[in-house]
Amino acid sequence: MNFDIITLFPKVFEPYLTESILGRALKNKIIKVKLHDLRKFSSDRKHFKVDDRPYGGGPGMVLKIESLVKAVNNALKGVTKSQRVKTKVVILSPSGKQFTNLTALNWVKNYKRIILICGHYEGVDARIKKIFKTEEVSIGPYVLTGGELPALIIVDSLSRKINGVLGKHESLEEERLGVGVPAYTRPEKFVYKNKKYYVPKELISGDHKAITNWRISHRKS
Ligand code: ADE
Repeated sequence: MNFDIITLFPKVFEPYLTESILGRALKNKIIKVKLHDLRKFSSDRKHFKVDDRPYGGGPGMVLKIESLVKAVNNALKGVTKSQRVKTKVVILSPSGKQFTNLTALNWVKNYKRIILICGHYEGVDARIKKIFKTEEVSIGPYVLTGGELPALIIVDSLSRKINGVLGKHESLEEERLGVGVPAYTRPEKFVYKNKKYYVPKELISGDHKAITNWRISHRKS
């Protein structure tokens, strides 16, 4: 899976993408992430401005259409007609359609490239949606300062559904039991402020059937 992220802040992605499971997936080339600095596509060669005031007035700024189109076209460079069918262009916005686990599954199944446009300020010039047939997506019912965290969340949730990204053990466990099973590790008894906290006895019983039954009855999804 290829991810292209169009952003005003490419530097914020690097720390998260180079660590842990995603870091390993990138290193093993199971996923690819390309960061596109929107300012590089500005026609303003002096201040690299990419936003302007909204027509009709009102507060805030809007990301300009010229630089957005150039940035998306840059992400699409080398993408053939047949690959284009398997490419999705997404705008991150709090007013978009709710992104869910099912969305992630569908995208992994149907697309090989996801282009994520990180919105900012009052949003992006709406004409981008018509030009590239984009989908506006929200990661939840709250407003963030920009689309960077939402883009990372989407990269993360799609990546962990791609074969080979999770370790064998992690994916098997999830397949068997689903997500959200309470977990414990040593010590068996933990004392805090004179109160004792124990690990459920089924989990230390060594009885595999009892362990599985306990996990199934305690999973949250
Ligand atoms: N940008 C700001 N808030 C957002 C949200 N909740 N989802 C996606 N993009 C956003």
